[in-house]
Amino acid sequence: SNFLLPSYMDFHVVSCRMIHALHIKDGKATYVSRYVTTSRFKQEEYFGGAKFMKVGDLKGLFGLFMVLTQELRKKLQVLDATYGTGPANTAFIYHHGKLMALSESDKPYVVRILEDGDLQTLGLLEYDQRLKHPFTAHPKVDPFTDEMFTFGYSHEPPYCTYRVITKDGIMLDPVPITIPESVMMHDFAITANYSIFMDLPMLFRPKEMVKNDEFIYKFDPAKKARFGILQRYEKDEKNIKWFELPNCFIFHNANAWEEGSEVILITCRHNNVDLDQVNGNQSDKLEDHGNELYEMRFNMKTGAASQKQLSVSAIDFPRINESYTGRKQRYIYCMILESTVKVNGILKMTGIIKFDLHAKPERSKEHLEVGGNVTGIYDLSPGMFCSEAVFVPKEPGVSGEEDDGYLIFFVHDENTGYSFHFLHH
Ligand SMILES: [Fe+2]
Repeated sequence: SNFLLPSYMDFHVVSCRMIHALHIKDGKATYVSRYVTTSRFKQEEYFGGAKFMKVGDLKGLFGLFMVLTQELRKKLQVLDATYGTGPANTAFIYHHGKLMALSESDKPYVVRILEDGDLQTLGLLEYDQRLKHPFTAHPKVDPFTDEMFTFGYSHEPPYCTYRVITKDGIMLDPVPITIPESVMMHDFAITANYSIFMDLPMLFRPKEMVKNDEFIYKFDPAKKARFGILQRYEKDEKNIKWFELPNCFIFHNANAWEEGSEVILITCRHNNVDLDQVNGNQSDKLEDHGNELYEMRFNMKTGAASQKQLSVSAIDFPRINESYTGRKQRYIYCMILESTVKVNGILKMTGIIKFDLHAKPERSKEHLEVGGNVTGIYDLSPGMFCSEAVFVPKEPGVSGEEDDGYLIFFVHDENTGYSFHFLHH
């Protein structure tokens, strides 16, 4: 069923601090959007304007990143960064009975959903002062153990810090992960026994940004992609195993699991990422560098790594039935990216594609279409664009059919200005 609701929001720009709730009950949908009252929001009110970065300033491919001016302001102590600086708007996760609004440049904010569906910000979550570094927007909750695994990346060593949070919400000691340079590390992955870190050559280059008006991160197409795999409960990194694969960048992983001595990672791999181009600093038409579904294999015994392409371009924002996080599973749902249409530097999404990992990709395909491992495509009409989907299983757990559930996503119709919420069974 479709619910027609007024378009309160602009889907082209991920609104800063704005979170949205859709409450569906007895055939009726209620929609709420609220500001996360982050520290930043309060300070901006005090300073009478937007001192912190916004998505437009971020030059963000998907609205994700930190920006230098903010770092400078922090150094100059114009704004108090002690209590959080992020927009708290990249993703949500539930853990230990808390709903957290996340952004990779900040710590989590706890948000409460009230009885009437309204939203309330409860405050910053710092795990009894144990969290001293940024916290990724994509932590992983193990559905079998209810533990949360997370990391943060920084501009100063340690460039990456790994954390485990128990099912009781206790954050264990930090595990620094050594990588040679500061990189953008947007996501990671877990299996039943391992955590997987991605050291990909999206290098922090603030000086070049100042000199050449370039983005704060610079992709180096000459460097290898590195994947670090560590036993989940290791207290330090001395047993981490690093694997190398051909150069790439990855924003989002779909899932990972183990098969014998191999670790399998299903991911959305970018062949080359020119953030300046994506940001609209160059031509209006994006060159398609390749943005495809991949399977990567890492052999923990032999140290061998390999990869296999599972789709053509352009897809990202993979979702799964999260009851299978870290476990072998079958279905991946990705957003289809329209690489030639963009507004304000944000790529638009034109539909959803469902992949069956048990089926083989059809080699002859040049475009995303049904057949082979593509079991379904939901294409929106021209002028309609959508948000990332979430998969809501009909029943929690792994006893039912993995793909029995709903994909929920927002759709904006540019022709009418109305927004729909599609529930696609
Ligand atoms: Fe993300």
